[in-house]
Amino acid sequence: MAHIGIFDSGCGGLSVLRELLKAAPGEHYTYFSDNANCPYGEKSSEFIIRRSTEISSHLIELGADIIVIACNTATAAAIASLRRRWPGLPFIGMEPAIKPAALMSRNKVVGVLATSSTLKADKYLDNKKIWASDVKIAEHAGEGFVELVESLELSGAHCEQTVRRSLEPLLEAGADTIVLGCTHYPFLLETMRAIAGPRVNFIDPAPAVARQLIHIMAEKNLPLSPKGEGKVDLECSGNPQTARKLLELALNLA
Ligand code: DGL
Repeated sequence: MAHIGIFDSGCGGLSVLRELLKAAPGEHYTYFSDNANCPYGEKSSEFIIRRSTEISSHLIELGADIIVIACNTATAAAIASLRRRWPGLPFIGMEPAIKPAALMSRNKVVGVLATSSTLKADKYLDNKKIWASDVKIAEHAGEGFVELVESLELSGAHCEQTVRRSLEPLLEAGADTIVLGCTHYPFLLETMRAIAGPRVNFIDPAPAVARQLIHIMAEKNLPLSPKGEGKVDLECSGNPQTARKLLELALNLA
């Protein structure tokens, strides 16, 4: 059975784990939520690199064969440094799905919701140049979104108001396709859909990450294990309660 380490600044990466469990349900997953240090969105890259290195080192000690960085912000800041440090170990990262969004958009206006540090990252800026030269991109940080998810406030008036504030500028710009560039945001999808209406498509890159996992397992000769053998261990640097509840939610949706 393959051992997959997966981490995020908090519980957002559980939206990725949910997809990994659909694609490869028989593996051993250790999910690490760095919720004592969440959010990463406003932290320095030095800090994010340090935490990503410490967490990866811990997951490797536990026996991880593959590490999934289920966080756009940590991928942008730290994946290059992690790959340099552990050249033999596959790291799978997350980045805003600009390319499929540009292809999917009918009116060629794409919205991107991500943390402000992801929106400033070189990798994201390069991807925009390569894949979005013929589309208009409207961007906004999901202000307060991570905090909503970490406090399990996934509906209600305050949640709706917070989501509306960051989503509306993208809708006003005419976006018909919106990329979810932070792994916390899929937990707010119902609220976003209610605000945006049926005309707008949201793109979550997690299914593409699950396909990448299957591809890397095949490359590394790690056979898929039978469904019944799978297990998930949950570790948190802070209070584990929210992660446990969201994991239950994510598993029920899987
Ligand atoms: N879930 C994260 C991401 O995908 C990080 C959010 C945060 O900690 O600011 O970017």
